[in-house]
Amino acid sequence: MRLLINVVICFLCCNLSLASDTYRAGVVSSIRSDPGRYVSYIKQAAKLNVDILVFPPPDESSFETMTSVSDDYDEVVKTLSEATKQARLYVVAHLYETVRCQNVNVTIRSNLVFDREGSIISEYRKPVNNITNCTSVETDFGVFKTDFNVTFGLLMEEDLVLRSPEAFKGLKNFVMTGTWTTEIPYLSASKFSSSWAFVNKANLVSPDGISDDTHMLMSGGLKFTDLYKRVGEDMAFKVPVVHLRKQRIFLGKDLPHYVTKPMNLEASRDGYEETVCHDSFCCEFYIKTRFVGSKSIDADYVLAAFRGTRYFGHGQHIGIESCAVFTNSSQKCFCSTENENNAIGLAFDKVTVIGNFTNGNSNYPIALSTGEQFEAKQFSFVSEFAGNTEQVVVELKFIESLTGFGIVSRDFSKDFVSVRDMESSYKNNFDIYDYIFHENVLEFFDYVWIRLRILIFVVSIYILEMI
Ligand SMILES: *[C@@H]1O[C@H](CO)[C@@H](O)[C@H](O)[C@H]1NC(C)=O
Ligand SMILES: *[C@@H]1O[C@H](CO)[C@@H](O)[C@H](O)[C@H]1NC(C)=O
Ligand SMILES: *[C@@H]1O[C@H](CO)[C@@H](O)[C@H](O)[C@H]1NC(C)=O
Ligand SMILES: *[C@@H]1O[C@H](CO)[C@@H](O)[C@H](O)[C@H]1NC(C)=O
Ligand SMILES: *[C@@H]1O[C@H](CO)[C@@H](O)[C@H](O)[C@H]1NC(C)=O
Ligand SMILES: *[C@@H]1O[C@H](CO)[C@@H](O)[C@H](O)[C@H]1NC(C)=O
Repeated sequence: MRLLINVVICFLCCNLSLASDTYRAGVVSSIRSDPGRYVSYIKQAAKLNVDILVFPPPDESSFETMTSVSDDYDEVVKTLSEATKQARLYVVAHLYETVRCQNVNVTIRSNLVFDREGSIISEYRKPVNNITNCTSVETDFGVFKTDFNVTFGLLMEEDLVLRSPEAFKGLKNFVMTGTWTTEIPYLSASKFSSSWAFVNKANLVSPDGISDDTHMLMSGGLKFTDLYKRVGEDMAFKVPVVHLRKQRIFLGKDLPHYVTKPMNLEASRDGYEETVCHDSFCCEFYIKTRFVGSKSIDADYVLAAFRGTRYFGHGQHIGIESCAVFTNSSQKCFCSTENENNAIGLAFDKVTVIGNFTNGNSNYPIALSTGEQFEAKQFSFVSEFAGNTEQVVVELKFIESLTGFGIVSRDFSKDFVSVRDMESSYKNNFDIYDYIFHENVLEFFDYVWIRLRILIFVVSIYILEMI
């Protein structure tokens, strides 16, 4: 059956890729640093007629502990090249390599792009730890052309936040791989990439997700979809509401950074306006709510404003301006299991958040919810030059299970790097929450539980027989 489907897909798409309006992008969400695993995904992608396949960094490697997986760099590169040549597609991988520079061993994160001939056509390299002065091992982000007439920008996760969109002018298609851990929950790539693609009107293909995943298909651990080559003003973009089913997030942990006011639940039933200021930076809110379900109301929403610098991880401090409505239920899990949708017992008929931001071109909506389906008409994002600032208005209508909603803006002029923070981040302090609640780990617990249930079952039968 699967073969038949493949044959049909092949019949429909083979050799049409240059003339076609779309290309097929595939991503693998998790991989072990085992050459055999790479090969089987590449073969599978070829059967599905994927034009470009993007791998994540190997699982065993967190940003800070990857040195052990950099030993097999040469072997993995050779394997990838051969497999890519046989399968005749484009492959993007993120690998770690150790090089010697100024008499120290430096670990390099590198994004490699293989073309249909198995040749490396683009490379983007950065030292993991920039405390040595090894600029020779570093390159700028990559740009490469494909035979299906699409030019891609080659990025790592942190580029979405650290680089101004000006840097990518003219590019509309991006591939991104290479993990960055941050304690700012809504700026991790899995939460932020859909907002980035929405605002920059771009296709973004990464193991964290594909910008337009409305028609995403799954085959084994491989997800794929067709994307329009031409993206831009005239295209309808997927509403960038991040669905939190499998992604736990602890916004409460983040709240001490903001100036906050509790949301007035009484007043919000009729609809009310509120202003919250962090020094001279002010955010305006309009909130109208409605009770749903029978559960008691334990929604503790806060209205929040922030202007200043935040630590973005790995030595980087970044300038941020932000206006948002958050739940402060830091200990509660707004994720998974079926009947949590009504756990909050509160729906928003309308939430409007307005702010005036310093930077005109880096303002992003942040929308986090446990709900799944959103239509374009429920969401709006308007950014307009007003005086000497950019006025941004975001609005969400008729939504239940809202976890966070607002605007985050980047002020690049306040960014700085601290070598001391970089050194300490290198010493194994990756975010335990991001790690533990990673999808694969959840799947692992599920697996253990299923095994355990079988064991309990067998033991109970045994005990019953004894009686
Ligand atoms: C650096 O790497 C080389 C070869 O990869 C190894 O022999 C050497 O012990 C390493 N040095 C340090 C300080 O880790
Ligand atoms: C690393 O440091 C050099 C100078 O010390 C700087 O030019 C470069 O931008 C830094 N790279 C990163 C990725 O921070
Ligand atoms: C890097 O360069 C800076 C200035 O050029 C110097 O102060 C510093 O000691 C150098 N660091 C290393 C590790 O060589
Ligand atoms: C490739 O893209 C360019 C610019 O988008 C377009 O003008 C050209 O017609 C395309 N070529 C083919 C063969 O589709
Ligand atoms: C958030 O919750 C914590 C713990 O329940 C509480 O101490 C804090 O005052 C709350 N913050 C706001 C702004 O409501
Ligand atoms: C934003 O600027 C406009 C025009 O200067 C002003 O009318 C409005 O009150 C400001 N809004 C906020 C939230 O500061």
